[in-house]
Amino acid sequence: MNKALDPALMQAAEATGSQLPASMNAYWMPFTANRQFKKAPRLLARASGMHYWDVHGREVLDGVAGLWCVNAGHNRPRITAAIQAQAAEMDFAPPFQMGHPKAFDLAERVAALAPAGMGKVFFANSGSEAVDSALKMALAYHRVRGEGTRTRLIGRERGYHGVNFGGISVGGMIGNRKTFGLAVAGTDHIRHTHDPARNAYSQGQPAQGAEFADDLDKLVALHDASNIAAVIVEPIAGSTGVLIPPAGYLQKLRELCTKHGILLIFDEVITGFGRTGQPFAAQTFGVTPDMITCAKGLTNGAVPMGAVIVRDEIHDAFMTGPEHLIEFPHGYTYSGHPLACAAGIGTLDTYAEEGLLTRADPAPGGIAAYFAAGVHSLKGEPHVIDVRNFGLVAGIELQAIAGEPTKRAFSVFLDCWEEGLMIRTTGDTIALSPPLIIERAHVDRIVETIRTALRRAA
Ligand SMILES: Cc1ncc(COP(=O)(O)O)c(C=O)c1O
Repeated sequence: MNKALDPALMQAAEATGSQLPASMNAYWMPFTANRQFKKAPRLLARASGMHYWDVHGREVLDGVAGLWCVNAGHNRPRITAAIQAQAAEMDFAPPFQMGHPKAFDLAERVAALAPAGMGKVFFANSGSEAVDSALKMALAYHRVRGEGTRTRLIGRERGYHGVNFGGISVGGMIGNRKTFGLAVAGTDHIRHTHDPARNAYSQGQPAQGAEFADDLDKLVALHDASNIAAVIVEPIAGSTGVLIPPAGYLQKLRELCTKHGILLIFDEVITGFGRTGQPFAAQTFGVTPDMITCAKGLTNGAVPMGAVIVRDEIHDAFMTGPEHLIEFPHGYTYSGHPLACAAGIGTLDTYAEEGLLTRADPAPGGIAAYFAAGVHSLKGEPHVIDVRNFGLVAGIELQAIAGEPTKRAFSVFLDCWEEGLMIRTTGDTIALSPPLIIERAHVDRIVETIRTALRRAA
């Protein structure tokens, strides 16, 4: 038994039949304060619908869909059954020069949800892999068309595109970059759109800031369009604090990319699969990119999977050389893994049957409008300096403790956990992205638990 675990809690866990780890020494946890965590672990044991239960049998309301991924809620029967049946039928199929029917079926289903003209789907196993696949695809696309000088990749400050080298190079999360020093050469960044002086407490899209997109024109003036391959942005930046795009901003980026022959990539790892009230934020905001990266909600988080959804012309540009040659020398052993495909099909069936991909529509009277009213009622509570929202995602930004950034928000996270609510914090912002099956009573409980924690926070 782990010495770090309280004996009374261990007894409680045993009483509920939960298995505690024999030791917590070997596991080096990702994006976690390992030493702090292991002194006071938060261990989850099971999940259903809107809730988790921890190893002590305590019910915990899920305010973040696991990690922005369990959009249909936990342990949905169709998804579970699909995975179980697939595991019993065929465990693995090699994806290189071989295939299996469900990979083709899932690709068709995803393409059918995507904006018109985006009919090709390339599978990866995570958001990070989807991003690096898209960046490589952009470089290869220009090369195959005889524009091989287009190699520069543009991201945005405060962007998060996963943790692989391509993703951190175009990404703009300082901690994720400075720790490693090295990055892919030839990357640049436009400014982020966070502008609290003009836009604090905006409901939905902020009114000010479309002109931030003009930064792309400046980079074109500096490098020349003939050297730029692609721009990648999250339609809503999630991991750096829920930054909603200003009205007209994404449209402007699209216009500039089209004008300069630069590919526009929307990283929809968080916004994809219903978070904003449409299958993709591209549809919600009425802007069609050239590629969409997605993951998370694609399989409801049940089996790892990512994908790049591509405009037909981009795919077709590759289909020109001799037919016996591999057109795009890229892929993963587990691209289109049978279990992931089964989970994906079960997930899309669940979304369709329950109308979940449009449930976060911000129109008045809907659950997203109720959620918006709830989170904005936190304006005026201690430490709150901004509230931002769109669909079923929200950010509540707190004043940082002087000299100790992130500490106040994390104390609110711990308080909520003790009270049976799971939230997420990034910097000093509380990020909420509940499962799309959320009901009003859950919204009330999320908002009131956070309100109480804010009032208690130092
Ligand atoms: C926008 C975005 N891109 C990429 C990723 C990376 O996804 P993964 O953790 O599956 O590699 C994330 C993860 O949160 C994300 O939010």
